[in-house]
Formats: sequence, C-alpha cells, structure tokens
Amino acid sequence: MPNFAYIDGRYIPRHLGSISMEDRAANFGDAIYEVWVVVNGQLVDERRHLDRLERSLAALHIPMPMARQALTSHIYRLLRRNVIKFGTVYLQISRGVARRDHVPPQNIKPSVMIFTTAKPALANARQNTPKISVKTGPDLRWGRCDIKSTALLPNVLLRMEASSEGFQEAWMIDDQGYVTEGTSSSSWIVTREGELCTRQLSSEILPGVTRETVKELAKNAGCRFVERAFTIQEAYDAAEAFITSATSFVTPVTKIDQNSIGNGEVGPVTLQLRDLYLSSSGL
Ligand code: PDD
Repeated sequence: MPNFAYIDGRYIPRHLGSISMEDRAANFGDAIYEVWVVVNGQLVDERRHLDRLERSLAALHIPMPMARQALTSHIYRLLRRNVIKFGTVYLQISRGVARRDHVPPQNIKPSVMIFTTAKPALANARQNTPKISVKTGPDLRWGRCDIKSTALLPNVLLRMEASSEGFQEAWMIDDQGYVTEGTSSSSWIVTREGELCTRQLSSEILPGVTRETVKELAKNAGCRFVERAFTIQEAYDAAEAFITSATSFVTPVTKIDQNSIGNGEVGPVTLQLRDLYLSSSGL
C-alpha cells in the first residue's frame, strides 16, 4: 500500500509528491512549517502547534489557506490512510507559486503540503532513554527566529558540522556567549544550585511547543524554574542538561563539546521531566 502525501488539495503517493520549481518555498524559503509527533494515532500538543502555525503565518502576512479544522482533518485522514499510530507529521505552507520576483503578486494562493513518517520505535520511548552529546557554535541566524520558517540554512550547516564530529545536536551561542537554542530543539540546564533554566522567549528563539508544556509540568511538579539566558560556561558547569522538541520529547544531554555534564549520567530532574512529558503525551 503506498504511503500518501497531501499536496494542494490532493492525496497522492508520497514518492510522486513534488512542488513547483517556482514555489516560493524553494526560491526564497518563503514558507513556514510545523512538526507534530503522533502517539496512538493522536497529534501531541495539537492546539499549541496550530496556534504557532497561525502566528508564523501572520508574521509573514500569509493567509491561513483553510480553516484549522480542515487542516487537522486532512492530517488525520492522512494518518489513517497511512496507518500511522506512532510517527511524525510535517506540514508546510508557502506563500505560493509565482514567477520569481521578490514582490509576490496580489492574488497568490498559499501552497500546502503534508506528509507523515511512521516511527514505531516511539512506542518504546519509555523503555529507551537516549542520551546525546551537543556541540556548540555561533548563532548565525536572522532577527526573527520566533517564526517557524523553512529558511534553516544556519541550523543545517551547524548541525552538519556537529554530526560529522559525532554530535547529535548543536547549541547556538549568541554574541554575548549565551546559549540561544538547539538547531532543532530548545535548550535547558539544571544548575548545581538546582535551578531549572531555559532561555526566555524573544525574537532570538523559537517558542517551542514542547518547551511550553514541559515548563507547565515542571512548575506543577514544584521545580525551581527560572526563564533566563545561560552562558555556555554555565552549561558546561551544569548538574544536568537536556533538550526538548516534538520529536525528541525530553532528551538528556550528557556531553557538551568536550565536557561531561554533571557526572556524565542522566540526571534526576531530566528523568522526572521526561517521564512527566511522556505521560502527558499518552506514552
Ligand atoms: N524543530 N527550536 C528550533 C530551532 C526548532 O527547530 C524546534 C523544533 C524547537 C522545538 O520546538 P517544538 O518543541 O515545538 O518541537 C526549538 C522541529 C522538530 C524540526 O525542525 O524538525
């Protein structure tokens, strides 16, 4: 049975899915996207991702191509067609297709594409706690990192460099030596004083959906949570570090550059938050 994708109103076999040569996503990175994780056939944090999707579109003056409900019904229809219980959904909306010109025409219609990926191993997330190592590098991105745009070149280049050196993620560092975020995840530390920190929201980071949910869970669990920037040196000296994202949930970081974090093992706060987040996601 072929795997289907949704492109501009049509369900087609995924391997036949393509976008126009003059789609503004391809020519300009003039597009936004969202990634959901799917647990037991349900989108995790469904509403928060849709809220951010609308926010990203509004920031780029791209109209919502259809009502929220229509979007989610296309997603769920695709999940059923592709028989996905555990996996991910990628949704991209570009400004549309037009002759290449920086100024788009007035009547341009947004392009929509959705594809799903099965990840049966997610069902065992509770049994397997991965630990990752992180490289650091300069944050070379633009001034509106709060928009979930498909223009991800600085993220991709740094992540390629990290990967070639055996690291699973990279944390980006601003001009003052503070960590902004990961190339595709939010960054967190637990200081030796027991403070749980993640950077405050601004145009310098993406407002992570998982970050928001974990923040709520941490507060309810009585963690000493502080939203503030932390330096790379504080991260090296931290008792614990971890990342959050739709696809990684809460994943422990046990090495940053050449430094072991804490005692090099997964820490108790990270484990507790991973556990709480997995439960809240239905795992
Ligand atoms: N990335 N920061 C960046 C730069 C990201 O790209 C992401 C998500 C996050 C975490 O956001 P959320 O918790 O909403 O997934 C933070 C997705 C998963 C991706 O690009 O594949």
